[in-house]
Amino acid sequence: MNIHSFAKKKLEREKISMVTCYDHWSAKILNETDVDCLLVGDSLAVVMHGFDSTVHATIDMMEMHVAAVARGAKDKFIVADMPFLSCSKGVDQAMDAVHRLMNAGANAVKIEGDKHQIDIIEHIVDAGVPVMGHLGLMPQSIHNLGGHKVQAKDEEQANALVESAQRLQAVGCFSLVLECIPTKLGSCVSQQLDIPTIGIGAGAHTDGQVLVLHDLLGVNPDFTPKFLRRYADSFSMVRGAVNHFHSDVTDQSYPAPQESYR
Ligand code: KIV
Repeated sequence: MNIHSFAKKKLEREKISMVTCYDHWSAKILNETDVDCLLVGDSLAVVMHGFDSTVHATIDMMEMHVAAVARGAKDKFIVADMPFLSCSKGVDQAMDAVHRLMNAGANAVKIEGDKHQIDIIEHIVDAGVPVMGHLGLMPQSIHNLGGHKVQAKDEEQANALVESAQRLQAVGCFSLVLECIPTKLGSCVSQQLDIPTIGIGAGAHTDGQVLVLHDLLGVNPDFTPKFLRRYADSFSMVRGAVNHFHSDVTDQSYPAPQESYR
C-alpha cells in the first residue's frame, strides 16, 4: 500500500481497511493480516497509558510507539497521529514533530482539523510528507466539543464540514478520516471528494473504515458505542487463559515433567 494505492482503491470502488496499532507484538500479528493500513493513533494515550483523553499523547510517546510498530509491521503502510497542539506552535515545531514520526518509521501523518492547521498541512505536503486529514469528532478538541457526540447534525454544520473536507483535499491531503457524523453526511463528503474517506461512526458509504484494534477485539467490555462491531471477546479470553495458568500453578499441574529440564 502507498498513497497511490489509496487513490486507486477509491477509483476502483474497493474499500480501504485501517486499524490502530500501538506496539510491537500486535504489529507483528497485523503484518500477517490483509488489513490495508495501520494507524498509530493518539488514542494510545487512552488505550495504552490509561489517560482520559488523547490530549495527553506527546511527541515522545508517539515517536516511541511508531518505532515499535515499524519494527514489527515491515510490510504495512503506517500512519502516525500528530499529537495535541503539535500543529499550533508554529511551522518549525510542527516540522520537527513530522521529522521525528517519519524517522521513527511512519509513512504518513494524520492531522485533526482544518482551521489554523491548514497552512501547516500544505507546508508538510510540499515537504514531501503524505498527510491524512481528520474531521467530524476530533478527540483532541474534546473540551471544546463538550464530549464524545455525533458531529455536524444540522445543515449549517454539515455544509461547513463539506467545505473543510474540500479545503483539506485542495492543500494536498491524500485521504480523510471522518469520525462520528451522520451516515448521509459521510456519504455526501465521500461522493464530493476525489480522495478516499475512511470512516469511524460515519456510516457504510465512506471509502473505508477504521477501528481501534482493542475495540474490535473486545478488550474493554464497558466501551459500547453504537458504531462498534466486536470481532472477538478478548477480555474473557485473556482472563480465562490467565486464570487457567493460575489454577495450574496452584494445583501444581504446571510445569509438567515435559515442561521441565532434566
Ligand atoms: O487515534 C485514533 O485512534 C484515531 C482513530 C479513532 C481514527 O484517530
